[in-house]
Amino acid sequence: GHAAETVFSSGVYAYTYDDIILMPDHISFPVGSVDLSTRVSKNIRLNLPFLSSPMDTVTESRMALGMALQGGMGFIHYNNSIEEQAWKIGNVKRFRSGFIARPYCLGPEATLEDVDRVFAERGFSGFPITSTGSVGGTLLGLITTRDHDFIQNRQKKITEVMTPAKDLITADSKLSLELAQEIMKSNKKGKLPIVDEEFNLVSLISRSDLKKAKSFPLSTKNANNKLMVGAAVGTRESDRQRLEALYAEGVDAIVIDSSQGDSDFQIEMLNHIKRTFPSLDVICGNIVTVRQARRLIEAGCDGLRVGMGAGSICTTQEVCAVGRAQATAVYHVSKFAKQFGIPVIADGGVSNSGHIIKAITLGASCVMMGSMLAGTEEAPGDFFFQDGVRVKRYRGMGSSEAMQKGSKTRYFGDTANIQVPQGVSGTVIDRGTIKTLIPYLTQSVRHGLQDAGVQSIRQAHEFLYEGRLRFEVRSGAAQREGGVHNLFSYEGKLGN
Ligand code: XMP
Repeated sequence: GHAAETVFSSGVYAYTYDDIILMPDHISFPVGSVDLSTRVSKNIRLNLPFLSSPMDTVTESRMALGMALQGGMGFIHYNNSIEEQAWKIGNVKRFRSGFIARPYCLGPEATLEDVDRVFAERGFSGFPITSTGSVGGTLLGLITTRDHDFIQNRQKKITEVMTPAKDLITADSKLSLELAQEIMKSNKKGKLPIVDEEFNLVSLISRSDLKKAKSFPLSTKNANNKLMVGAAVGTRESDRQRLEALYAEGVDAIVIDSSQGDSDFQIEMLNHIKRTFPSLDVICGNIVTVRQARRLIEAGCDGLRVGMGAGSICTTQEVCAVGRAQATAVYHVSKFAKQFGIPVIADGGVSNSGHIIKAITLGASCVMMGSMLAGTEEAPGDFFFQDGVRVKRYRGMGSSEAMQKGSKTRYFGDTANIQVPQGVSGTVIDRGTIKTLIPYLTQSVRHGLQDAGVQSIRQAHEFLYEGRLRFEVRSGAAQREGGVHNLFSYEGKLGN
């Protein structure tokens, strides 16, 4: 094999992940000892190098929450109103294992018909009743199945049936989960409302959820022990208001989202964020060349997102004839950014764990994934069947479908009368849940690094620049040989 420098600087060709292969080396440590901790940006450390893309079929609260619990991080998309995006950030920030941060509530005007409707829609059978009908209002009472099940008249006001606040057992938010368990057990209660000094509802503890609450040793948390979450914004004037709302909800990192990030618009936005919210880490992109990286690093970015046209749903390279093969882009930008201590996110084009291993051994600090995660339970949208296969919708943010909903700025279609889509929409197969997918990817990446004789991401980068990691370019036939072949049919390629 050859040092990466030889492979990537040898000629006029650019390579992508599948073009290259990593040479194995001596193994002198167990797979479990491979350390995947890394950075997503200058000041944000992660235990695992996995990020979810800010796309409206990939990352909303549930994905961002799940990614942070598992040890990665999610970036919430901005193809929505400011309020919606801020609310989604808030959902992640308010998470406390075992606590329902934003319990579904009803107001004092509600009837038992409303209770039935919510049960049919959401499957909840007991809720707090508050003065405002939402969390934050004064707690008036609690209604559970036991209170209303046998009542024939469903038009009856909820306040006549509920257990009123004076008869409820409540607790304050300093309560530990262990104590909550005790209180609920000794009082035979399934739900314990948490209130502030003024008796406003703060959250709810449910016994059935508490039983399921697990510990997440790798989770991504800030100094205040809150889960970390990122968000994407654009470069328009209205994105400045958006930022304020996201900041108020406690967002940790911002991605300035553009398919071509080396622009005056992006640098102005970066300057604005750094001036106004100096505590936020700002990730700029997308870029694929050293020249682009230099301008954004000089402008003060904290991280770089690399990839142009490599995404599974991208048509940028075909429509605009610009972009770069992803392995080459990741190698060159990472090598340059390393001198300034700026981490690189390899974004797009990851369709198996091997691609993640290649991105990391070529200098990336983490990978950002869209299609890999879009088929999980945590991604927005419902599963459905297409030709007998269980699938979910997945679409490029530059597809005409997504642009109809508003994501025009990423692909600069906002000022023109004619929209030029740079992405497609389609479906991806059911991948289960990230609760199993992320551990599977983690273990696969550990195995790959172990095979290459590398015990951590940090060491992978050291060995990369020392020329100790060796690579070769694969011919088309070699690539076919390296994949599944000669079978009439097979199962289990993705390994989970
Ligand atoms: P994967 O391969 O993980 O790629 O599905 C996700 C990344 O693709 C980018 N993206 C797009 N690129 N047109 C593009 O050219 C699009 O419509 C589009 N939507 C998303 C984005 O960087 C994402 O993280």
